[in-house]
Amino acid sequence: MKNKRILLIMSGGIAAYKCLELIRRLRDKGAHVRVVMTRAAQQFVTPLSVSALTNEKVFTDLFDLNDEREIGHIRLSREADAILVAPATADLIAKMANGHADDLASSVLLASDKPPLVAPAMNPRMWMNKATQRNVSQLEADGVRFIGPEVGEMAEANEAGPGRLVEVPALIEALSKMPGIAAGSEPSDRSHSMLKHGGLEGLHVLVTSGPTHEPIDPVRYIANRSSGKQGHAIAAAAQAAGARVTLVSGPVNIPDPEGVEVVRVETAEAMLAAVEKALPADVGIFCAAVADWHVASQGAQKIKKQKGAAPPKLELVPNPDILKTIATRKKGRPDLVVGFAAETEKVLEHARAKLASKGCDWIVANDVSAGTGVMGGDRNKVHVVRDGGQVSWPDMSKVQVADALVGAIVAELAKKKIAPAEKERGKKARGK
Ligand code: C5P
Repeated sequence: MKNKRILLIMSGGIAAYKCLELIRRLRDKGAHVRVVMTRAAQQFVTPLSVSALTNEKVFTDLFDLNDEREIGHIRLSREADAILVAPATADLIAKMANGHADDLASSVLLASDKPPLVAPAMNPRMWMNKATQRNVSQLEADGVRFIGPEVGEMAEANEAGPGRLVEVPALIEALSKMPGIAAGSEPSDRSHSMLKHGGLEGLHVLVTSGPTHEPIDPVRYIANRSSGKQGHAIAAAAQAAGARVTLVSGPVNIPDPEGVEVVRVETAEAMLAAVEKALPADVGIFCAAVADWHVASQGAQKIKKQKGAAPPKLELVPNPDILKTIATRKKGRPDLVVGFAAETEKVLEHARAKLASKGCDWIVANDVSAGTGVMGGDRNKVHVVRDGGQVSWPDMSKVQVADALVGAIVAELAKKKIAPAEKERGKKARGK
């Protein structure tokens, strides 16, 4: 459950109090919990106590303009690895079965791209009512999973039967088997920052991400194993911190971060051109795994095998070094330039040499040797190397590394009190 993001949707019922214990246990296990409460749920448990346990704002209102701008119901569901509805009332189950979206809870569920886990709790007669059973069957047919209700005494006097919310350990166990949570499953939509730092408002952040593809002929190319997960997560975190973000990305198979301008390129040369076009920027973060060479003369036609002939030889010529080009610019250099160094040995030594040779302010170095699973994986362990020192961060998810890096950038900029590049754009627009 470590670092998994659970969205808990609470509807009204006396069993809501069990959710406080549930949240505590989930957080003990290292999960991040966000909570949406229906109006009725707030009659049983206050958002204040829930928020104290999650250490996050509790989401209650569909028409909270701030949240629509900052987070919104689509992001609430997309940013979760799993959604749990507990307690689920007969009313919320009916709404789900019929696709209603008249409050935040039902809207999040309707907007969700992943079937939730639903833990009903209600009066036994309501549970056994044909209408509820029809709704449950419909939802099961739609791929929704149910846990419970348990049979037992109800809170109301003299009532017993199926209707009790299952106990917390059983809820956690069922949750741990959900896609997105179960060991080895890919968390959904990893390019989203879980945190909102603020602090980059009015600034332009330029990020490169992913590999480059260098064509050999019309059907073949040279590539590397970069997935773009780290660079995309950084772009998302900078956006969440309030920056205008341009993400120049090589070919990747992950979704674009929300609210970010994405420029797609294939080759290193095209990446450099896109980066230069996107300037000026206040901060440049060069995370892409740019190919060092391209093929000197690309075949216009597919290179054919020739019977008996030796295999063709590829002549390679160096690609431009995008990071170095930008970091050593006399005019229009971003105020803070961050490079990455993926190394397979002597990580810190190489990173320090790179800091000098590339002319950047920070190098984020990581070990990508075989067995670390960093290239293409979801986790990263990095060292931030700068003039006069270095810090080593613990093993974290790439999203957490992105959040931490953006946090460090916010702190650095506050120290330097950098004036926004928007000023420079203003000068440009005025023809100065
Ligand atoms: O030299 P090396 O590839 O190890 O340097 C890594 C850093 O330089 C990364 O930040 C990467 O994005 C950047 N780089 C670049 N253009 C290149 C090669 C690397 O921007 N051609």
